[in-house]
Amino acid sequence: MTFDRFGRKIHYLRISLTDHCNLRCIYCMPEDQTFRANAELMQDDEILLFARLFAELGFDKIRLTGGEPTVRANITEIVRGIAQTPGIHSLSMTTNGLLLPRLAAPLAAAGLQHVNISIDTLDALKFKRLTHWGKLEQAWQGILAAEEAGLSPIKLNAVIVKGYNEEDVIDLAALTLQKSWQLRFIEMMPFAGVTTVQTQQIVTAAQIQAKIECEFGPLETNQRYDGEARIFRIRGAQGEIGFISSVTVPFCSACTRARLTADGVLRMCLLREKEFDLLTPLRNGATFEDLRQMILGAVWNKPWGHGLDEGDIPLNRAMNQIGG
Ligand code: 5AD
Ligand code: SF4
Repeated sequence: MTFDRFGRKIHYLRISLTDHCNLRCIYCMPEDQTFRANAELMQDDEILLFARLFAELGFDKIRLTGGEPTVRANITEIVRGIAQTPGIHSLSMTTNGLLLPRLAAPLAAAGLQHVNISIDTLDALKFKRLTHWGKLEQAWQGILAAEEAGLSPIKLNAVIVKGYNEEDVIDLAALTLQKSWQLRFIEMMPFAGVTTVQTQQIVTAAQIQAKIECEFGPLETNQRYDGEARIFRIRGAQGEIGFISSVTVPFCSACTRARLTADGVLRMCLLREKEFDLLTPLRNGATFEDLRQMILGAVWNKPWGHGLDEGDIPLNRAMNQIGG
């Protein structure tokens, strides 16, 4: 078991497999973003080794992120290796869904259990405007492929940006009327690269909820959380609506996470710059015991909460270089 100095049990590791992506969402990275060379990224065997080390320390849940994790070469084999790691009971992925029509079935067969798919609008033109390079139809087919492959419950992530898709929360929320999907509205968080959009065009969870309630009436809730999402339901709906209000109502006291970036750096808070490089010591011959001690030390010193209210914005990485 791995605890931090505040008594939080830290057992959920998010591993970013690459900073590369086949989209350029306006709230994530600039269109001319440059990426790390492959040699700087964790290699397949290094990823599996870290998964094993974390599992030995009591981590039982892993989520694969990016950039876009499905653009990584050998993604199916990486998933298979992590799924077979003793102690890992939950394996999921956050993806933009574009490659899922081809990959959903093999990933599920390799041991992937769940996916969260990003979709910020159901309007093809707005989708293009938000993602720069994306085709809505392709993402939609990805969602259907995930459902078909049994990667359920299907969770959809939507980031709402002032001037882009505020009105679209109605259509997105309406998906839950017929589908037993969970539609999660995520407050935009600020990082490097596109900080101006992220700070000046944020729409809060409370504003989104108000818009949805204006259309569908008061949302029902039994005060349940699913991870970081507060869960609600439109009266009579099949699916659920979640609000992830990381900026306005942080959930730091319930945080169980650590993040391993694609370049092998451990980051104990998404919104704090402090990092612990694990890959360089590994490549320089650190023993597994050395690495375990580094991980335990980093976990122990996990920060309590973010400093956005004090204007403390993490600027050492863009979102795609952390993994969300
Ligand atoms: N704030 C909040 N969520 C973000 N995502 C990407 N950038 C941001 C941001 N600045 C979300 C994406 C995706 C997941 C990887 O993180 O929508 O669902
Ligand atoms: Fe790619 Fe996800 Fe960033 Fe969009 S949010 S550019 S899909 S990594």
